[in-house]
Amino acid sequence: MTIKSAYMDYQSTTPLDERALAAMMPYLTEKFGNPHSAEHRFGWEAEAAIDVAREQVAAVIAGKPEAITFLSGATEANNLVIKGVMEHWGAVKPHLITVATEHKCVLEAALACERAGYRLTILTVGSDGLIDLDQLEDAICDATALVSVMAVNNEIGVIQPLANIGAICRKRGVLFHTDAAQAYGKIPLDVEVMNIDFMSISAHKIYGPKGVGALYRRQDTSTVITPQMHGGGQEGGLRAGTQAPALVAGFGEAADICAAEMAQEQGRLEKMMKRMVSGLGEAAPGVKINGHPEVRWTGNLNVCFPGLDGDRLFADIRGLAVSSGAACASAVAGPSYVLDAIGVSANDARASIRIGIGRLTTDEEIDFAIGKISEAVGNQGGCI
Ligand SMILES: Cc1ncc(COP(=O)(O)O)c(C=O)c1O
Repeated sequence: MTIKSAYMDYQSTTPLDERALAAMMPYLTEKFGNPHSAEHRFGWEAEAAIDVAREQVAAVIAGKPEAITFLSGATEANNLVIKGVMEHWGAVKPHLITVATEHKCVLEAALACERAGYRLTILTVGSDGLIDLDQLEDAICDATALVSVMAVNNEIGVIQPLANIGAICRKRGVLFHTDAAQAYGKIPLDVEVMNIDFMSISAHKIYGPKGVGALYRRQDTSTVITPQMHGGGQEGGLRAGTQAPALVAGFGEAADICAAEMAQEQGRLEKMMKRMVSGLGEAAPGVKINGHPEVRWTGNLNVCFPGLDGDRLFADIRGLAVSSGAACASAVAGPSYVLDAIGVSANDARASIRIGIGRLTTDEEIDFAIGKISEAVGNQGGCI
């Protein structure tokens, strides 16, 4: 059977794993209780599902279950931790550090803090997309409350040196948050070894349902933050609102599966990605990888075809669901700020493609993608 289309946008979202769906179903049907109803069985069984998921989600990062707060996704987790830390420390430690290539929800939350009167430092990255640890050390001062650096970049896939950043932050007495939406369940993460105080997690990036995620908060008096949602005191008072047991149960199951299959899946994706890189290299000499060629999540490839017309390139690969080097915060058209931050020109950014492969990707789809892209590049006479 010839393939006519392929989904290769796994950084955008992932398909719901059937096993996660199965874990959700009882809580969408007969087990419909409110997990916060303490007086009867309907409440207890919904609450029990959330307790199990809390353990599953925490286990993936060697964290304690009570350190997990369920909420709507990584956007909310990032907003909660950044605003919550800054508000808690207030005038005592009014300085926040983050990085130019963070996801918009981190950058916008940080800018909102700046507008509220806090001091903000945005670190630059090298052409490989990685931060400079000396620059980070220099930026930290007595007034610094929080350093927020993402784990795996959503556009270019590079992996920031989390253990080194964590060691620096701990040594300097500064809290360390990482947005791990693209890393959790995919690469090994250990909140203790890496000195991570806060971690943002999203279920729909790990084959779980959309609309649920978590904030990991190390249980310590130094990591107390100001809640941003007020109400009935759920989630230890950190995030009010009735929990969604079905979503949370699906998230827990998805996390469990990722942990169990991580090493095997990594090996499978690595093989397929190698095939993709060599196929594209042969078909389009001059093709360049955006970001560090090795220090990256293997399920992501961001490639530039220098000299090509990006609009035409995308028109010619229709059927291949990939993302463009144009800003993926789709309300904003124009070249990606992440590619800009690593020194890619606007034209080269338009001629860049983000390819994301994952659990359902097959060798046939890799060959389909190589064929489609090769043909599109050929239509324009190749890269310059
Ligand atoms: C790095 C990163 N952070 C945060 C988010 C937002 O996650 P969510 O969709 O769960 O709000 C995304 C998703 O695009 C992401 O890739």
